[in-house]
Amino acid sequence: MGVTRLVTITPPELDIEEKLKGIFSRHTTQRQELIPILQETQRAFRYLPAAAIKEIAVYLGLPESAVYGVSTFYARFRLKPQGKKTILVCRGTACHVRGTQKVLAELEKVLGIKAGETTADGEYTLETVACIGACALAPVITIDDEVFGKMTARKVTELLGGKTNYE
Ligand code: FES
Repeated sequence: MGVTRLVTITPPELDIEEKLKGIFSRHTTQRQELIPILQETQRAFRYLPAAAIKEIAVYLGLPESAVYGVSTFYARFRLKPQGKKTILVCRGTACHVRGTQKVLAELEKVLGIKAGETTADGEYTLETVACIGACALAPVITIDDEVFGKMTARKVTELLGGKTNYE
């Protein structure tokens, strides 16, 4: 199995410029536009690229640090690239007791990343959460909106083995 390294996937600057132009055309330069602009920017790129934050600060006449401040205050904003699919691994008590650690370790191995990272090809982001609310199925993971219960390391391979380039 090859090792997949995490790289920062930055959209080309022209793409950022182009998309921001469209977003700015729908908003004034008033300070209260900051959050709606950040939301639209995140929808466009699935995260907030550093270059976009810089442009937003210029557009609104705010210090870059103020835009970062708001972006980091709200949990819904992401400063790192997000994969096309998000895998959430439950680390709640019920899942922990039933072996979530092995499932997470296998996911990290198969994807070649650590929790909190995104694969180099932008396919998957791997994250952990406190409790998904399906404790009876522990250990539980979700891939986007799909829930997979009673997970094992072997099931990880079954779930991702045929669908990824990580082998
Ligand atoms: S502890 Fe994992 S779903 Fe509740």
